[in-house]
Amino acid sequence: MIELFQGFSKLTRQERYQKLIKAGVLNKEEIEYLERGGLKDLSLGEKFIENVIGYFQLPLGVATNFRIDGRDVLIPMAVEETSIVAAASKTAKWVRESGFIQTRVDGHEIIGQIQISKLNNPDLFINKIYNSKSQLINMSNQEVAFGLVRRGGGVTDIKVRILDRPDGLKMGVIHVMANPCDAMGANVINQVCEYLKEPIEELTEEKVTMCILSNLVTTKLTKAEVVLEKIDMELAEKIEEASIFAELDSYRAATSNKGVLNGIDPILIATGNDWRAVEAGIHAYAARSGHYRSITTWRREGNRLIGRFEAPLIVGTVGGVTTLHPTAKMSLKMLNVESANELSRIISAVGLVQNLGALKALTTVGIIEGHMKLHIKNLTLGAGAEEKEIPHVQKRLEEILTMRKRISLSNAIEVLRELRLQNSSTSDHGAHHV
Ligand code: HMG
Repeated sequence: MIELFQGFSKLTRQERYQKLIKAGVLNKEEIEYLERGGLKDLSLGEKFIENVIGYFQLPLGVATNFRIDGRDVLIPMAVEETSIVAAASKTAKWVRESGFIQTRVDGHEIIGQIQISKLNNPDLFINKIYNSKSQLINMSNQEVAFGLVRRGGGVTDIKVRILDRPDGLKMGVIHVMANPCDAMGANVINQVCEYLKEPIEELTEEKVTMCILSNLVTTKLTKAEVVLEKIDMELAEKIEEASIFAELDSYRAATSNKGVLNGIDPILIATGNDWRAVEAGIHAYAARSGHYRSITTWRREGNRLIGRFEAPLIVGTVGGVTTLHPTAKMSLKMLNVESANELSRIISAVGLVQNLGALKALTTVGIIEGHMKLHIKNLTLGAGAEEKEIPHVQKRLEEILTMRKRISLSNAIEVLRELRLQNSSTSDHGAHHV
């Protein structure tokens, strides 16, 4: 497949469609649907959210060159920011030529929480819950999570945590653990927790305050590793230094993690997954030591550079928008994934590769050059250039960027003003001769 996608970024959209058809990734009907502008049917939107007035369309791109766990995969990315898809594709090419990517998921279970804000008798509460644990699990599986049980998942465990409150009293928190199989599991775990409220109150004579899932899923972690075997060790050292910066300093960590999420969020959106939940989980995991730090690390090991990502990345390939939204369905088809875990692993790999691309740019030419080279198109449109003016404004802005190493909307406005002045004086001149 890789040969087919070489030079993909330099093709016209029509040529890109032809490549996707040739690769068997999408069919003619799907391409027609994309060309028509994707989902238009507002009655479907009405099923997703409330008070619907229309759709908000984001561009859908495809990042190329990814080989993850030995498999070539095209990455659908729905995102508004310039240079993300380009950087992902370019960095994936580098990794492919100089090393490899491996991923895995450790653990199966998501977490639901039941809070008892003020415990009357913490010891008795703990005993009663643990003594009836199997019964509570069985009831949950029979009454609520039976669909998951049929697919090999369901509620697997119940744990009790006791938290010290500022007023000296104790708070009880029950963690309900469940294997959601290929669903994200939010609805089912929330239903299980709410279902357990009454039996728990009867059993313990304590009052349940609230029930909700946790997005900090430390029991199911997705891990990705990028290994660069052929790398200039000076560059490797710079990338390691950038990594150490983000491990030590929360100000830098926030930006570095934003760079990782540049690779993660667009796939979550394209596949109809809940990006807020994943973001919350990743940030909470990044702060698990009490110090917010980068979610990735880069280290030289021998003559290799190794990048690592580890975080909760809970996604679904069935249920919710993933199966209802035609573009999400198409994106999942493009990824050719067989399970939620496989999707999660691909997403973690793209996040790590995206981070590498940004760190490479930051520690060599700087971010402005590549980002602004592509951002010039936005500036040109932002300045109000018309179709016929665009090539001239873009070319002139590229020259300014090369010369001054920086560029802004005011440059674009100025270039456009000069062009229009020049054009009007040429036409005045022409008029005089006629
Ligand atoms: P370049 O070397 O000028 O690109 O890089 P090129 O024209 O030589 O093409 C090389 C390959 O790059 C292409 O191969 C594509 O794979 C890709 P081909 O398809 O020709 O075989 N590529 C493109 N793909 C799609 N559309 C394009 C395109 N152009 C190149 N138009 C590039 C240019 C922008 C890729 C490079 O400078 C780069 O990677 N820069 C980093 C940009 C970046 O990381 N952007 C993310 C946003 S910045 C941010 O929010 C995060 C940050 O704050 C995070 C942090 O602080 O850690 C930075």
